[in-house]
Amino acid sequence: MKLFDVYPLNNITITKAKGSYVWDDQGTKYLDMYGGHAVISIGHTHPHWVLRIEEQLNKIAFYSNSVKIPVQQQLAEKLGKLSGKEDYQLFLISSGAEANENALKLASFYNGKKKIIAFSKSFHGRTSLAVAVTDNPAIVAPVNENENVIFLPYNDEKALEDCFAQRGDEISSVIIEAIQGVGGIIPATENFLQKIRSLCNQYNAVYIADSVQDGYGRSGQFFAHDYGRVSADVYTMAKGMGNGFPIGGILIAPHIAPKHGMLGTTFGGNQLACAAALAVLEVMEEENLIENAQKVGSYLLDRLAAITEIKNVRGRGLMIGFDVPEELKDLKKNLLYKQHVFTGEAKPNVIRLLPSLALTKDQASEFLEALEAEIASLTGAKKESERAVTV
Ligand SMILES: Cc1ncc(COP(=O)(O)O)c(C=O)c1O
Repeated sequence: MKLFDVYPLNNITITKAKGSYVWDDQGTKYLDMYGGHAVISIGHTHPHWVLRIEEQLNKIAFYSNSVKIPVQQQLAEKLGKLSGKEDYQLFLISSGAEANENALKLASFYNGKKKIIAFSKSFHGRTSLAVAVTDNPAIVAPVNENENVIFLPYNDEKALEDCFAQRGDEISSVIIEAIQGVGGIIPATENFLQKIRSLCNQYNAVYIADSVQDGYGRSGQFFAHDYGRVSADVYTMAKGMGNGFPIGGILIAPHIAPKHGMLGTTFGGNQLACAAALAVLEVMEEENLIENAQKVGSYLLDRLAAITEIKNVRGRGLMIGFDVPEELKDLKKNLLYKQHVFTGEAKPNVIRLLPSLALTKDQASEFLEALEAEIASLTGAKKESERAVTV
């Protein structure tokens, strides 16, 4: 049987990982500035995470949500404490798309309305509602097209106000990433997030903070929405939550009441996933990883801003992006194959950095050296070829 070929692959097989490094089957070591797509939060194969999973595996890995699962409650308590959302309620699922799917559905159950506001360049996942609120027609199948979704420009307060003024009574929810990830690391302004909060209050709409990529400490705050000094009604989470073990969650404000049968899933909240997620929070707290993301992130942002060949350095914490000019178009590829550094990208020309929150300052410097060396090599090669043409 062949694999369904939907992913353009790098010709690399990773067989070992530790902290912020991975090794391929030839023994080559790579610095991981991509975190397997923002998933590795506490570092690859962290010993405490491995131990907790092993211990849980030897007791029970899975039983359905038809029985009490105390580790879910332990996870909820720890999450409430670290996120500062102790009065919120937790519903557990297994991925980011599933988190957004449930959040949008819950909002509609809550206020009985249908319309959803989403923003240009958003990415919220690939299941039916999640993809319908994603601004990329190429991944929306005809069956997912949904007339209830209204796309507005990101960070445009006037457009948002006008939309609510015209159709506020129909709007069920607003879904937004506080820092757009797939869209190219674009932070929302504080004013925009505050405007969403006040309009949602005024029109009884639900503010959904998609924190799948920018949440869980990555931005240097538990939620990137915290930079707006607002509380959302629903936070969706996944990626960093399990450090690679598939788990997602939604945090639900106290005024949204549950009802039996309203939401449900087979795998969400299973014992093994909860043990992995609990280990992540324990390590984040013990090793002050949110503070580390803030500190090492600021260092990287400052140093990157001083490199004149790259443009528009931006981001928060360890969620950083910069534009790569046309003459350095091979930068990402060369970083991987020549310098042995994994980075992420956003189309058309953005390099995205999404490393583990445990990245050290030395590892950040190691990345900067590799980046500078590769830029020098690419610009040197260009000058060389220009000289050859003139001669
Ligand atoms: C902001 C955001 N929301 C949702 C998702 C979807 O998450 P998943 O791939 O786990 O379904 C992603 C994935 O990249 C994301 O970046």
